[in-house]
Amino acid sequence: MIISPSVLSANFLHLEKDIEMINNSQADWFHVDIMDGVFVPNISFGMPVMNALHKAAKKPLDVHLMLANPDPYIAEFARLGATFITVHYEACTHLHRTIQSIKQTGAKAGVALNPHTPVHLLSEIIADLDLVLLMSVNPGFGGQKFIENTYHKCAELKALILEKQSHALIEIDGGVTLANAPLLQKAGAHALVAGNTVFSSPNPTETIMQLKNMNP
Ligand code: DX5
Ligand code: ZN
Repeated sequence: MIISPSVLSANFLHLEKDIEMINNSQADWFHVDIMDGVFVPNISFGMPVMNALHKAAKKPLDVHLMLANPDPYIAEFARLGATFITVHYEACTHLHRTIQSIKQTGAKAGVALNPHTPVHLLSEIIADLDLVLLMSVNPGFGGQKFIENTYHKCAELKALILEKQSHALIEIDGGVTLANAPLLQKAGAHALVAGNTVFSSPNPTETIMQLKNMNP
């Protein structure tokens, strides 16, 4: 299981310390939540923090763009070291074009689905994707409650990926805990984002290890 701790839940007064904790842990990626206050009812952080992460993070940056209009920013996120750039299905009228422009930068291309968006809407694009992110909360905030229907969506997505012979990874984002992580693994998830579960833990490194080494 790929573990992607969410920087949104880090302590921004001591960001370097939290980045080092992730560098030295069993985590695989850094999950980077970019929010514009338009697509989601919150604003997180932008290029200066992304630039700082690029300098200090020693693992791939898994960038989740919660932007109403992501296209003008794709090249800059790639330049700032994004390994994965994930855009929202709900925000992209010309999703095929957006995916191609992510790939042209050399980054891997992901699409995120809000909780209400059905998986089958990806059927014509899934073969082109490197990652599908299933939102298991409504995007905008860390620390929310996991939406149980995600297990069903995850299994459906797994079937679609097999049917279309896609190599896309399935990532689950929002409300992931030590309790639901094994069930998500069973449903076919390859990667789990964890914000609150990691950063509110008394021992974040140990919690990352537990998520990484759980048995379904
Ligand atoms: C929510 C973000 C998530 C968030 C997850 O809009 O996309 O990545 O940081 O945080 P937790 O794990 O606390 O739900
Ligand atoms: Zn996210």
